[in-house]
Amino acid sequence: MKVTVVGAGAVGASCAEYIAIKNFASEVVLLDIKEGFAEGKAMDLMQTASLNGFDTKITGITNDYTATANSDICVITSGIPRKPGMTREELIGINAGIVKAVSSSLVEHSPNTILIVVSNPMDTMTYLAAKATGLPKHRIIGMGGALDSARFKYRLAEALGAPISDVDGMVLGGHSDTGMIPLTRLATRNSVPVSDFLTKERLEQVKEDTKVGGATLTKLLGTSAWYAPGAAVSGLVQAIACDQKKLFPCSVFLEGEYGMNDICIGVPVILGRNGIEKIVDMNLTDAEKENMLNSAEAVRKTNGLLEL
Ligand code: LAC
Repeated sequence: MKVTVVGAGAVGASCAEYIAIKNFASEVVLLDIKEGFAEGKAMDLMQTASLNGFDTKITGITNDYTATANSDICVITSGIPRKPGMTREELIGINAGIVKAVSSSLVEHSPNTILIVVSNPMDTMTYLAAKATGLPKHRIIGMGGALDSARFKYRLAEALGAPISDVDGMVLGGHSDTGMIPLTRLATRNSVPVSDFLTKERLEQVKEDTKVGGATLTKLLGTSAWYAPGAAVSGLVQAIACDQKKLFPCSVFLEGEYGMNDICIGVPVILGRNGIEKIVDMNLTDAEKENMLNSAEAVRKTNGLLEL
């Protein structure tokens, strides 16, 4: 199993680290445009191998896509991260050109690859990568929902005073401060609805804290987060590499599912060796369906800024 991660910044390096540490891939190639940067990160990570007990071989390369040839999975983290006060949508001007070029170069050298898009604004960048590469829809996956759901579980555990392993929950919709839809109705503490423990007001707070999860970190760190994004990507990569048939919310190209067409947005999917094995059609309430449509409207507005 060969995995390429493009972008050796904090998010890309965390992806490589978490993938390697889980020890399921034979090879991770880290690529960056900055001379020597990916090589340095790869060497530093490889020097953790004996300490952390993994055998995955991580190599770094400066902008040479031939080194990525025949990757089974490629992860795109390239582009600029947001600064405090910025929305993810404001990054489109710079990141669209980068994601278009990177996705095309990757697919040129690995025509059978599964692409995972992390760059922001993620839903729009996933849509762009789908259009730019023409890959079938089951091989283009936007990483947002897995991260947002992890943040939702963190906030739920905090409100409940419970360990995270007690908590289950999922976030659908666009990966944006206003577009995320944390499904509080279905969240549970070991099968008991969280609404049995938390007031409506407290649950509302959990929902709001989840939606601005990335922005809260950007304010604290001065740039966007990397540990949880890297861990979320490694979860998706592992589910594919190990054919786990695991359910994650991911941004995927919809053709009629959830009543939507020609858009990438977060819905539950099953991930396995073929990428998206299935888009799960779950029952939503009228209010949740309306939230999905509003979220999609915002994603479409950002998609409208693309030059396809
Ligand atoms: C975040 C970025 C990765 O939410 O979108 O932290």
